[in-house]
Amino acid sequence: MLAIFHLVLLNFDQVLLSSGFKSSDLYSHGFFSAKMKLPSDYTAGIVVAFYTTNGDVFKRTHDELDFEFLGNIRGKAWRFQTNMYGNGSTSRGREERYYLWFDPSREFHRYSILWTTKKIIFYIDDVPIREIIRNQEMGADYPSKPMALYATIWDASDWATSGGRYRTNYKYAPFIAEFTDLALHGCAADPLEEIFSSSCTEQDDQLDSASYASISPQQRMAMKNFRHKHMYYSYCYDTLRYSVPPPECLIDPSEKLRFKETGRLKFEGRHRHRRSKRSRSQDIGARNYGNEDED
Ligand SMILES: *[C@@H]1O[C@H](CO)[C@@H](O)[C@H](O)[C@H]1NC(C)=O
Repeated sequence: MLAIFHLVLLNFDQVLLSSGFKSSDLYSHGFFSAKMKLPSDYTAGIVVAFYTTNGDVFKRTHDELDFEFLGNIRGKAWRFQTNMYGNGSTSRGREERYYLWFDPSREFHRYSILWTTKKIIFYIDDVPIREIIRNQEMGADYPSKPMALYATIWDASDWATSGGRYRTNYKYAPFIAEFTDLALHGCAADPLEEIFSSSCTEQDDQLDSASYASISPQQRMAMKNFRHKHMYYSYCYDTLRYSVPPPECLIDPSEKLRFKETGRLKFEGRHRHRRSKRSRSQDIGARNYGNEDED
């Protein structure tokens, strides 16, 4: 698909709007990918999300995989997070937060979510940034029902940028996110059909053997580098929240050393360090845990 979609957030007498698009089909596993250019200049408070979910169909037992870009102030590194929910596991968020190593508002970059029967990989361009290998212990926390692809832009001033310290400024409106080269490879499936999985076997096999379903040694190095340099929060190292890390967490001892018990970095060299006064307990269990960014 070559058309460029513009998602526009306008202000209309201070009434805050959001906009988005959604795939017409739901997919039982798939590769969901688009090139995206994020709004430029002052975008504090503005969240752009690229995600798969079936929340419209399964209100209480939904599955979800997200990329969320958390607004920005010109000249700073952009922050974003990835997350996963399975069968309504909203009390067990699995957020990771990172800095981007480029300015996503300058040119198009490709963002992709691979979801197979065995694993999930988040990609930025050719760099895998997060891999979740399914295991039995995860049970239904691993997304298993067909999902549609969504992209939205909205005003999340309350939490998005530095925990809400920088709010949306409509002087800079409209905020425009551009999407192009959408790719959807997967098995279109009816989520209400009980035995959808068996009819998707062939496409599941194709997905497993696709190039993007395996990470080359070079890509693995790039992923390790990215995570060492740019990840600033991981639920896997947040021992206040999870005294036992969730079963998919692969604890890397050298990586673990970098994080405090809160799952946040011990030292954040290029960023001023100031503790938030808000108590930690308020955040635990919140859907967007980790939003109390420090600057
Ligand atoms: C998903 O959650 C529902 C409601 O909590 C539960 O009844 C169902 O057994 C769960 N599904 C799986 C596969 O565990």
